[in-house]
Amino acid sequence: MQQVKAVVAMSKGAPVEVATINVPDPGPGEAVVQVQSCGVCHTDLHYREGGINDEFPFLLGHEAAGVVEAVGEGVTDVAPGDFVILNWRAVCGECRACKRGDLQYCFATHNATQKMTLEDGTELSPALGIGAFAEKTLVAAGQCTKVDPEARPAAVGLLGCGVMAGIGAAINTGGATRGRSVAVIGCGGVGVAAVAGAALAGASPIIAIDIDAKKLEKATELGATHTIDSSSTDVVEAVKEICGGVYEGAEGADIVVEAVGRPETWKQAFYARDLAGTVVLVGVPTPDMKVPDLPLIDVFGRGGSLKSSWYGDCLPSRDFPMLVDLYRQGRLDLDAFVSEEIGIDDVEAAFEKMHHGGVLRSVVVL
Ligand SMILES: NC(=O)c1ccc[n+]([C@@H]2O[C@H](COP(=O)([O-])OP(=O)(O)OC[C@H]3O[C@@H](n4cnc5c(N)ncnc54)[C@H](O)[C@@H]3O)[C@@H](O)[C@H]2O)c1
Ligand SMILES: [Zn+2]
Ligand SMILES: [Zn+2]
Repeated sequence: MQQVKAVVAMSKGAPVEVATINVPDPGPGEAVVQVQSCGVCHTDLHYREGGINDEFPFLLGHEAAGVVEAVGEGVTDVAPGDFVILNWRAVCGECRACKRGDLQYCFATHNATQKMTLEDGTELSPALGIGAFAEKTLVAAGQCTKVDPEARPAAVGLLGCGVMAGIGAAINTGGATRGRSVAVIGCGGVGVAAVAGAALAGASPIIAIDIDAKKLEKATELGATHTIDSSSTDVVEAVKEICGGVYEGAEGADIVVEAVGRPETWKQAFYARDLAGTVVLVGVPTPDMKVPDLPLIDVFGRGGSLKSSWYGDCLPSRDFPMLVDLYRQGRLDLDAFVSEEIGIDDVEAAFEKMHHGGVLRSVVVL
């Protein structure tokens, strides 16, 4: 066992604290990772606000890269010294989804068996089974995905959650490709990644939508062909007009990615979608949210599909090395997502900046 510094959310809504935690030595199937970087994702804030569940105290952070320090018995896929991105989809290979070949839907993903604790022995709940706003963390070995060690940790670590979720929402879940239009509502780290994913796939037009003009500038840098400031413009009408200008008669975009996680923006996505199009909900709603007054005839009458996307339907072992390769070639600008590098004491301030300030990702560098 060793003791390290980490960021903990002690109780619902309270500011996060830096505390000393106990990290057990890795047991069978586990690994201890020396964390080098960890991005601040909106889901960490959802945890702090009690929007995910009530299992406080949480050990926050889940968008990380680092170096494997030690592995437990039976671990063969990774070894001490390997540079890895941590993932929250270590597939089991045995559940009904895995058995039928849909590993991206695995219903029994692996996490460490042992618990990290506060100094007094109180068990911590690691965010998404990771907990990487910490100098070191304990994970299941399958949560470590080996990638090119030359890559910058602060940039490629973002593939561990938000950037992968966004790229995958557009490509894997939404099916973005050449000849299809994509609109993205909410251009934080996840939404701008959906824009970048749509651009990688050759989609056009790519419409970025946000209430914050600075986010729209970022989205344009990463491949948006059009932007809509939805604080002052009707989203549904504007998307229809842009898409109709390219594909005659289009009543919206073929794929609309909702990356906010609110009923009103999901409803915009629903109506900004062309006939037979796809809505992808990648934003995470809270349990109290409902979509009011949606006529069932509109669901039927417009055809197509209404999907949600967990982690961009990714398979870390397949997708992380491929996307790191595109990054190394200069075809996927992951550096553009790193708005600032911060210390472990600055996570609370980073939450503040999510609401204003044009930050895509604050990344804790250790
Ligand atoms: N499904 C997944 O696997 C997954 C993974 C990571 C994050 N998420 C979720 O994705 C969402 C976005 O995460 P993020 O880290 O990019 O958050 P973020 O806070 O960085 O970005 C949210 C963006 O939405 C914009 N926004 C807010 N209200 C809006 C509105 N009414 N209309 C248009 N834009 C609006 C904000 O200006 C901001 O740019 C969160 O709900 C997060 O929990 C989901
Ligand atoms: Zn499984
Ligand atoms: Zn996340």
